[in-house]
Amino acid sequence: MAQKKNRMTKKVSLLLGLQWGDEGKGKIVDVLTQQHDIIARFQGGPNAGHTLVFGGQKHVLHTIPSGIFHDKVINIVGNGVVIDPVIFKKELDNLSKHHIDFTNKLRISRKAHLILPTHRLLDAASETAKGKAKIGSTLKGIGPAYMDKTGRNGLRVGDLERKNWKEKYAALTQKHLKMLSHYEVQLDFDLHELETDFFEGVQVLKQIPFVDGVSFIQDAMRTNKTILAEGAQGSLLDIDFGTYPFVTSSTTTAAGACTGLGVAPNQIGEVYGIMKAYTTRVGSGPFPTELFDEDGKKIAKIGNEFGATTGRPRRCGWLDLVALKYAVQINGVTQLAMMKSDVLSGFDTIKACTSYTYKGEKTTDFPYSIDDADIQVNYTEFKGWQEDITSLSQAEEIPDALRDYIHFIENFVGVPITIVSVGPDRKQTIRLYK
Ligand code: GDP
Ligand code: IMO
Ligand code: MG
Repeated sequence: MAQKKNRMTKKVSLLLGLQWGDEGKGKIVDVLTQQHDIIARFQGGPNAGHTLVFGGQKHVLHTIPSGIFHDKVINIVGNGVVIDPVIFKKELDNLSKHHIDFTNKLRISRKAHLILPTHRLLDAASETAKGKAKIGSTLKGIGPAYMDKTGRNGLRVGDLERKNWKEKYAALTQKHLKMLSHYEVQLDFDLHELETDFFEGVQVLKQIPFVDGVSFIQDAMRTNKTILAEGAQGSLLDIDFGTYPFVTSSTTTAAGACTGLGVAPNQIGEVYGIMKAYTTRVGSGPFPTELFDEDGKKIAKIGNEFGATTGRPRRCGWLDLVALKYAVQINGVTQLAMMKSDVLSGFDTIKACTSYTYKGEKTTDFPYSIDDADIQVNYTEFKGWQEDITSLSQAEEIPDALRDYIHFIENFVGVPITIVSVGPDRKQTIRLYK
């Protein structure tokens, strides 16, 4: 009987990035929100920038889940997320013209951790001290906030409901100031000003209902609500499986949805892996298929490859199928969405990395290090397509050369591409295998 009941409950669908972030997760969450009751962000923080385009307007979200524009959908910020109240307030302010009823449509897990102003300062000090070896962080305080979480010093959203939270805040801030004094880096800051913004942000945050995230998610599943878990960053930025140390400080892979929401592994159903038809990376770190020639410039220009959070130019290169296959494996991806396919229109030849040569041996496994010094990249070439595909909506209209590229990727990684995105707008989306 108990088993039967278990089978009846709805599984959580999971959506995550398979490369170095900015794959187009926000767009596909927006597209899939129509089929879901709840959108649950499970990790990362305001280092993320998720772009949604509809009705001729572009919206960028950092902490708020990408289902916020849909009526009747509840959006929850899970315990795995780190929240900066200052940025959170700005996001709500930016959305004010849309007259969204946040008290009804937004929830925050009490177990989510807070980013303090001094976390941001520590991030800046750490990056400056690293010099040329810097990570290329978004400087949003992500690393220091997660360090306090795992170091068991963090301040959580639930603490804001306690009388002594300001004392806790002050003690942690003092600790951070001491840590800052150990860096041989001069930072200019006005703590009073930073704290004024922080306390204002906290007041706004407190207007959103705080919930016990596990009960919220588990009750929703029991009552047959459909949940889509929204990841941030990408698998190659994962703290364990990414290109360490050039990674972010959270679990960006499927396991992060379990720890970041309170979902058991066997409660996960579909896993949507989001990938670009090529590769981009913002920040430092190895990128084997990076292009430094005209092709790279062309992708950057047509793809408008600038960071949604920092505005930095994104590095561009060909698709890396060895890395993609690795990401598909560690996440248990069941279907792929291939984004920005339109950007590759007009190339005579397209390339994809189909093996590395690591220590003199050809391999399709993702090795310990993908630094230039350790690997060489081996490419397979594909015939390009010249058609403008941005107004296509049906699978049958896809040019043959693009279809061949799609089939090759599917065979290589062993998972179907069920969504082909041909432009930033919600409508520029082709569904395959309907
Ligand atoms: P996310 O962080 O994964 O949500 O991705 P970002 O929003 O940071 O970056 C993706 C960028 O590509 C945004 O500017 C999107 O509007 C845009 N985009 C998404 N899908 C497509 C597509 O299929 N074609 C084109 N040309 N742009 C797209
Ligand atoms: P979304 O969710 C792309 C990168 C930074 C840097 C590294 C560490 O929009 O895909 P951090 O600020 O976490 O200390 O930075 O990770 N990074 C991202 N790159 N998209 C993101 O998020 C990113 N979030 C962090 O550029 O290299
Ligand atoms: Mg982004």
